Amino acid sequence: MYFEHNLSNTDRIESGEEEIGVEQSLPYPPVPDPSTCVNIEDGLKFDCFPRGQVTEKDCNQRGCCYTNITINRDPKVPICYYPKTYNSYKYTNITIKDWGIVATMAAQFRSPYPKDSVNLVLHIIYIDENTVYIKMNTTGNTKNQNMWPLADDPVPKIGVKSAFDVKIDMNSTGFQVMRKSNGKIIFDTKNLGGFIHTDQFFQISSKLPSKFIYGLGEQRSSFLRDVNWNTISLFTHDSIPLDNVNGYGFHPVYLCMEGGGLSHGVVSLNSYPTDIILQPGPAITFRTIGGILAFVIFMGPTPIDVVKQYTSVVNQRAPIPPYWALGFHLCRFGYKSLADVEKIWNQTVEAGIPLDTQWADLDYMKNRNDFTLDDKFKGLDKFVDKLHKKGMHFVPLVDPGISGSETPGTYPPYDDGMNLKIFVMDSSGKKPFIGKVWNSKTTLFPDFTHPRIIEYWFNQLKRFHDMVPFDGAWIDMNEPSNFLNGSLTGCPNNNWEHPPYVPTVDGGFLSYRTLCMSSLHWNGVKHYDIHNLYGTMEMIVTSFTMGMLRNSRPFVISRSSAPSLGNYGGHWTGDVRSTWDDMKHSVADLFSFSLFGVPLVGADICGFNGNTSVDLCQRWSQLGAFYPFSRNHNSDDTIAQDPVSLGDAVASAAKKALKIRYMLLPYLYTLFADNANDRTPVVQPLFFQFPEDAETYSIMTQFMWGRSLLFAPVLEEGMTYVKVYLPKGVWYNGYTKERILSKGQYFATPAPLDTIPIFTRGGSIIPEQIPGQTTTERYNPIMSSGFETFVQLG
Ligand code: NOJ
Repeated sequence: MYFEHNLSNTDRIESGEEEIGVEQSLPYPPVPDPSTCVNIEDGLKFDCFPRGQVTEKDCNQRGCCYTNITINRDPKVPICYYPKTYNSYKYTNITIKDWGIVATMAAQFRSPYPKDSVNLVLHIIYIDENTVYIKMNTTGNTKNQNMWPLADDPVPKIGVKSAFDVKIDMNSTGFQVMRKSNGKIIFDTKNLGGFIHTDQFFQISSKLPSKFIYGLGEQRSSFLRDVNWNTISLFTHDSIPLDNVNGYGFHPVYLCMEGGGLSHGVVSLNSYPTDIILQPGPAITFRTIGGILAFVIFMGPTPIDVVKQYTSVVNQRAPIPPYWALGFHLCRFGYKSLADVEKIWNQTVEAGIPLDTQWADLDYMKNRNDFTLDDKFKGLDKFVDKLHKKGMHFVPLVDPGISGSETPGTYPPYDDGMNLKIFVMDSSGKKPFIGKVWNSKTTLFPDFTHPRIIEYWFNQLKRFHDMVPFDGAWIDMNEPSNFLNGSLTGCPNNNWEHPPYVPTVDGGFLSYRTLCMSSLHWNGVKHYDIHNLYGTMEMIVTSFTMGMLRNSRPFVISRSSAPSLGNYGGHWTGDVRSTWDDMKHSVADLFSFSLFGVPLVGADICGFNGNTSVDLCQRWSQLGAFYPFSRNHNSDDTIAQDPVSLGDAVASAAKKALKIRYMLLPYLYTLFADNANDRTPVVQPLFFQFPEDAETYSIMTQFMWGRSLLFAPVLEEGMTYVKVYLPKGVWYNGYTKERILSKGQYFATPAPLDTIPIFTRGGSIIPEQIPGQTTTERYNPIMSSGFETFVQLG
């Protein structure tokens, strides 16, 4: 893992150095010829005036077309849009190399954003048969790289027999990437309006070959994205998962089903705050506010190939989690004391509900300060010993923020951090940046890019581990979240706090409930440059530290995520609400994180925010029993929702489903092993297995474990059957063993309150094991007729 820490454009300009190739003497664009504004279908009108009220004069000044029809106008279609010919750049040279193409471009007129790049170099590099790398940057500024967790720029391969053709010619702008085998254009920027490359604003649009586009996270949505004028803002942020609000993670990657079973993927290798706009063309626009424009396109051809190609480009190969991580986890925010934890734990074990790991939220901390123990949790170490004796495990919450207001000499996490100068600094670089999170007065933020951070973080975790021998770490609030907008004294007024274009982020400005963008990390890197990577860097450091502490495979679950997170641990989907709708969305999240290369993922079973209900929790317990990461957790102001507290209906549904999970763990573990070996996703939407069956492209309510098991949870209130789509082939009802020959059909399948429909695919052998109370009880024999045994077990 390596981050490019070169100076960005903005650093150079601040230091008084002139940027090569950037000037403001370019002419204004010509007012478009009206003939270039007509006959553009609405779905292919690209917004020339995003984020503002536009007048005809302003629009024309940008060289764009203005059509303000008042009758029958879809309000989402831009009034001000790029004309058919908007040649912001023209090629000045194109050279074909034996590894790809190099072209130079010159700006023809100025964009509405400051400091246009006058000269650009476009590199198109074939990395291997199915992967092409595309990068644009300014002449003479090859150092201007994105802060991206890649080992290096991808290495070109000479003489590759590429599955792509790239079309580029001197008489047009942009380029086209096509699939050689059928000539289909899959990334098409040719003569498409609005290519802009400036100091702090970059924009490129492409037509899409189909509207079946998936991924682009983390922002609550179906896995299948809506292309009806949908702006997806990618900027890591602490918010309840809501539609149209930027979420905890940053994953600018999509998968597209082209039709005929073929698929491809595209990742934007740019880690700056990004807006992605999907429109009905179908088409996509990327707008980012730093670094350079760089993309990798993957040719699949199957969706699973795309996932493998993408995860290998971001150096991602999720290790096999410890076996116990695949057991059931119990947690809540708001345990009143250790006695309260023990009570819930006891009642769960006594009810015979399989359980592996007890968790503790920040309740265990003194004054909500990391690495401390409140008196109410005295004896936690003994309880953890007891868990260990039973083959169980314990995971506490760790926040990144360190209290900055304890009496000097009493709180080592602060004192050590100050000695090592480990904290993120304010924009002066002279004192730590001060925000406020859970701590009583102030919070400082460790800089997870600091060269001595491992030493610092290891010492803190170890000191606490010596007190309480915990087994894994739960890293929360690492977007990073802040209860203030910026620091105690606000943020400076500069280009990083208020860039010329602010993506459509929650709150409307970048430091909303996070750090100031101009606060400083190691080596003068601005928070602006690495905000989206903060949580993933904490993950890397924590996972490494946990491995050293316990000398065994680390188990870390993080809320914030970015490409490569899956290398180090898993993710839970944050503060979902206890609603049927949120439960349904959790299936889409499993798919998204499969694409993002984070197989160990799950939502808070029964929901986090708001009181759950018996009906909801019963169904959610059945679904959650088959999340790769299966944990029941809720907020401090809600009723107890562990299975037993909610009564027999929930307890027995959870027990039955979890017993099946535990029975299937040999299979699940094997899927994780496959994932670690060759990056095959663990949880899959149906179309990953049946890419030629277009009916599966929009099925987001059923999911598969690998190729062999299909789950069809009840996601609607009051339903006792599920309309299950079984793709063509032979299937078996998991419970009755009934053989079903499907032509690719829907089947109304009974789902009584205590049952989640499960099907096995013909031609599969599924290793199973008689379930125990914990995953440690693995002396039970492996078998392959588990469902029958389970049915007999009653
Ligand atoms: C926010 C997390 O998302 C939630 O799971 C946790 O319970 C609270 N922080 C308190 O630590």
